[in-house]
Amino acid sequence: MFNKLTAMPADPILGLLTQYREDTHPQKVDLGVGVYKDPTGVTPILNCVKKAEKFRLDTETTKVYIGPTGSPQFNTLMTELAFGAGHSAILADRIRTVSTPGGTGALRVAGDFIKRCNPNAVLWVSDPTWANHTGLFEAAGITVKTYPYYDYDSKSLKFDEMLAALSQVSPDDVVLFHACCHNPSGMDFTTAQWDKVVALTKEQGFTPLIDMAYQGFGDGVDIDAYGVRQMAAVVDNMILCSSCSKNFGLYRERIGSCSVIAKDANTANVAQSVLLYVVRCLYSMPPAHGAAIVETILGSAELKQEWLDELKVMRDRINGNRAILVDKLKANGVDRDFSFIARQKGMFSFLGVNPEQVARLQKEFSIYMVGSSRISIAGISEDNVDYLAQSIAKVL
Ligand code: LMR
Repeated sequence: MFNKLTAMPADPILGLLTQYREDTHPQKVDLGVGVYKDPTGVTPILNCVKKAEKFRLDTETTKVYIGPTGSPQFNTLMTELAFGAGHSAILADRIRTVSTPGGTGALRVAGDFIKRCNPNAVLWVSDPTWANHTGLFEAAGITVKTYPYYDYDSKSLKFDEMLAALSQVSPDDVVLFHACCHNPSGMDFTTAQWDKVVALTKEQGFTPLIDMAYQGFGDGVDIDAYGVRQMAAVVDNMILCSSCSKNFGLYRERIGSCSVIAKDANTANVAQSVLLYVVRCLYSMPPAHGAAIVETILGSAELKQEWLDELKVMRDRINGNRAILVDKLKANGVDRDFSFIARQKGMFSFLGVNPEQVARLQKEFSIYMVGSSRISIAGISEDNVDYLAQSIAKVL
């Protein structure tokens, strides 16, 4: 049976990890997968995480099954983090949240949930979007189509074109938005643009699915959730997928959450029963360790403050890297305008070089980025930025 299989290509993002690890070039630079790195190139465990883990180790009494919803306390705290405590949808008891194995797990749960809501629903994703969105939803049996989003020439949003396309979307369909730190372009909606998107979503009646993988990496945890909060206050149905991989640095613990927002508490209960059914069929129940860490942090005023402070350090470093790269490119004689990098948000931007130049940067200079020229800004450091800027100048 297995000899009928055709080999699959390596994942365009994760495949780079192996290539980078095997490269022995002393000045190699990893701008591939989206993980935060400190100035020494290490992805650290946050201090608040260390403390929460120690506390859990000392106090945990059982490893018995946690159930398909995951930890109720984690779910409540994640709901408050995303929507803001006191949000009208929370007060109206319209939200149901389950813990999931990472943000990817949340998206796949959402995919199976959508399939059960409407087997013929089309999922509309931004062009471009995270490379895994399409495969992940197609694996759930959903047809995926794109709406215009990023203009590679002007390095800005195709906002009017996007609104025009979305005003044709059927109320039976689902539209995926990135809450903040758009992956891969780094181009986010302003709050005024979010207001227009929310109004159009309400008017058109399709279901928004918001992917929030980087809450706190853009401008701060509350500002980054602006679209999520406005949307949930206005529309009847919505899905939110959150990840704790980046903002808590819990990548390998695989913890995130999926929330459904329904028009009232009764509908939310029915939706939750479907979510739990989907979870049971997919992986039965989520892992507990990451949720235990997050709920310990968010449940303690002191640890939460420490987390917010550590998150700010990560955010400021990424924003600082954006400015440094723009300056260094200029200092190395590059006359092309790269100032857009400093205006974009979060972990990623497109460098805007062509596929041959991306290949040369990897082959000749051991600088790794996704073939689309998406760079992970966190991989830049004071130690490598000169080499990086000089290498880019050479391939340009
Ligand atoms: C990325 O886009 O690099 C991250 O979200 C990691 C991943 O799983 O692709």
